[in-house]
Amino acid sequence: MAEDRQGDVRGAPLFAALDDEAASALRASMTEVRLSRGDVLFHEGQPGDQLYVVTSGKIKLGRTSSDGRENLLAIQGPGEMFGELSLFDPGPRTATATAVTSTTLIALGHADLQPWLTGRPEVATQLLRALAQRLRRTNDTLADLVFSDVPGRVAKALLDLAKRFGVQSEDGIHVTHDLTQEELAQLVGASRETVNKALADFAQRGWLRHEARAVVILDVERLTRRSR
Ligand code: CMP
Repeated sequence: MAEDRQGDVRGAPLFAALDDEAASALRASMTEVRLSRGDVLFHEGQPGDQLYVVTSGKIKLGRTSSDGRENLLAIQGPGEMFGELSLFDPGPRTATATAVTSTTLIALGHADLQPWLTGRPEVATQLLRALAQRLRRTNDTLADLVFSDVPGRVAKALLDLAKRFGVQSEDGIHVTHDLTQEELAQLVGASRETVNKALADFAQRGWLRHEARAVVILDVERLTRRSR
């Protein structure tokens, strides 16, 4: 894990409204962290006083049950923030953060963040917005766990990944999610076998095509219908 001081803070919605001077002052107080696939940034239960913004790559946020099963709360990509919970509500980290591909992040400590929250209302507003979006998303996920079947949840997860990481090309939307099938299963809260079956069914119907740690979505409309 390498660390140095740099990073484009305005790439993150949280700091997008800052002017040149403010952005470079903020950058000076932030540290860049580089991770390779599989590197753990922090573990659930550890104390923490830094929040992170992803500048490139992807981070998975996961929790482990007492019998060792894993559940993924979210995959965070460029511009997205995490690690703020233990900052604002001092306590242990609520999830383990692991890189799923080569990833760079910028880190901001509690003491360095405080003046931005009190002195720049636009930063505080963006932070509240990010937290509100997270609650909205978490409520949707919770409802899907109760009301949707596994294929519906797989379809929804793929569409969400496509929205954030997809690249439109002639034959469809290429989504390099960087997740193994096991990780995809942990993200939708189902067994690997059930998720594989759903993916195979979607592929057989011609809705998508598999690639290594990626899918190409060929029929967004049908996948969207299946996700409802
Ligand atoms: P923290 O508890 O410091 O470390 C783990 C981080 O995972 C946490 O802060 C949040 O930033 C993030 N996190 C926790 N729960 C969720 C969730 N339901 N959705 C997205 N991110 C989350």
